Amino acid sequence: MRFAIVIMAAGKGTRLKSKRAKVLHHIGGKALLEHVILAATQIVPPEDVYVVVGHQAGAVQAAVASTGVKFVTQAEQRGTGHAIQTVREAVSGYEHLIVLSGDVPLLQPKTIARLRDFHLSERAAMTILTAAPDDPNDYGRVLRKSPASAEAIAIVEQKALTPEQEKVREINSGIYAFATEHLFKNISELTTSNAHGEYYLTDMARILVQEKQRVVAIEADSATEVLGANTILEMVELDAAMRLSIAHKLMARGVTIYRPETTVIDSDVKVGADTIIEPFVQLLGDTHVGEDCLIRSYSVIENSILDHHVLIRQGCIINDSRIHSSAELGPYARLRPGSEIGEEAHVGNFVETKKMRLGKGSKASHLSYLGDAEIGSGVNIGAGTITCNYDGVNKHRTLIEDGAFVGSHSTLVAPLVIGQGAYIAGGSTITEDVPPDALALGRTRQTTKVEWAKSRRSQIHAAKEVEKSRQG
Ligand code: UD1
Ligand code: CA
Repeated sequence: MRFAIVIMAAGKGTRLKSKRAKVLHHIGGKALLEHVILAATQIVPPEDVYVVVGHQAGAVQAAVASTGVKFVTQAEQRGTGHAIQTVREAVSGYEHLIVLSGDVPLLQPKTIARLRDFHLSERAAMTILTAAPDDPNDYGRVLRKSPASAEAIAIVEQKALTPEQEKVREINSGIYAFATEHLFKNISELTTSNAHGEYYLTDMARILVQEKQRVVAIEADSATEVLGANTILEMVELDAAMRLSIAHKLMARGVTIYRPETTVIDSDVKVGADTIIEPFVQLLGDTHVGEDCLIRSYSVIENSILDHHVLIRQGCIINDSRIHSSAELGPYARLRPGSEIGEEAHVGNFVETKKMRLGKGSKASHLSYLGDAEIGSGVNIGAGTITCNYDGVNKHRTLIEDGAFVGSHSTLVAPLVIGQGAYIAGGSTITEDVPPDALALGRTRQTTKVEWAKSRRSQIHAAKEVEKSRQG
C-alpha cells in the first residue's frame, strides 16, 4: 500500500494578523510546519512527504528544506480543496494519501498510524480524524450516520451550521486519509459556494457519500493533539501545552521540575535522571543536561552540553558552550559561544567568557572577562581579571598554563603566555610573556610615607585654631 503524506501549508493565516506566514510561527522552539514534518516522517520517508507551499513559499521552503521533503506550489490560495487539487499530479502514483494541516502541530505519529490503519481496515474512500474538544467553536463539525456509526455523511463548517448542528461536539481535525483514485475522480465537484468563496476539502465527505463511497470517522485519543493554531492566542496555548508535555516526559524519566508551568524547555532538549530544575528556567535548542545536575531559577541555557553533577546557580546565561562534570557556575555567570568549563571548575558571579577553555579545578570566581583564552588546570583567576583580546583590529589569544595564579584586577594584554605555576601580582598590567614559576609585577611600586597622615591632620588642626582665634 503506497502512502504519501500531503501537508497543507500554503495559507497566509489571516487571523494571526502577522507579517510572517502562519506555518513559520514557533511553538516549543520550532516552526509549526517543522513539528508536522517531524511527525509525518515517522510514518513515511521524507521523499513521500509533499508540502503545499504558497504564501511566502520561499521562506517556508528554506525553513524546512533540510528535512528532505518535496514541495508543490499553490500559487493562489483558493482553499484546502484547491491545495489538494494542486498536488494531484505529484501524488498520482500513490494508492492512498494522508492529508495533514501545517497548523496542527501537536499531532503524534502514533495517531497518524492509527488513522492509516483504520482507513485501510475500513476500506474507506475518505477517513476523517475527529476530536471532541471542550470548545468546538470555529471548527468544522463531523456529522455521522448515527452516533454509534463509523460512517460519516458530511463535514459542516462553523459558519454554515444550523442551530441543530451547532450541538454536535465532534470536530473535524483537518486531518484525513483518502483513497487517491476516489479523491481525484470526484475533486472537480468542489465548488466555491460557501461563506469564504473557497474550495473546501471538507466538502469531499458529502460528495463521496453521494457517489456511494465509504466515508468514515475516527476520534483521536486526545483532543489537545489535534488543536489548530489560527490566532496568536491559540499559538501560545499550544506552546504551553507542548512545553508542559515535554516537562511531563522528562519527569517520567526521573527529572525533577518544580513548577513546570514556568519552565521553557524546547522539544529536542535532553535531561538526565536526578537532575533538578527550579522554576523559571529555560533550556533551549540542542541542549543536553546530564544526571544529578541542579539548575537554579532564572538560568537560560541554549545549545549547550552539561555533563553530570553540574551546578548552575541563579541567573546564568549560557550559549553554545560545554560544561564538564561537577563544575559550578554563577550566580549570574555569562558563557558566550565556545566556552568550555572543565571538571570541578568554578565560574562565579559576573564572569563573562567567550571562546575559551578553563581547565580542571580552575577558578574564576568574580567579575572577569575571559575571551579567546586557554586556561590550564588548577589556575586561580583573581577577581576583576580581564583578558584584553582585542586591539581594535584583530583578536589575540591568552594562554595561562597549569597552576598559575593571577592576582586580582590583572589586565592581561594578548597575545600572551603565562607559564606554568607563575604568579601575577594583583593590579598588574601584563604585556609580555611570563616564564613558568616566575613572579610578574606590572604596576608602579608602592611608596609609603611614614607618619604622613598624622602630620597632615595636625596641620589641619593648627590651621583651624588660627582661624578660630582670628574670628574670636
Ligand atoms: C480547516 C477545516 C475545518 C477544520 C479545521 C481544523 C476546511 C474548509 N476547514 O479549517 O473543518 O475543523 O481546519 O484545524 O478545510 N491551506 C492551504 N491552501 C489554501 C488554504 C489553506 O495550503 O488555499 C492550508 C493552511 O496553510 C493551513 C491548512 O491548509 O495549514 C488549513 O487551513 P485553515 O485556513 O487554517 O483552515 P481552518 O479554517 O482552520
Ligand atoms: Ca486552521
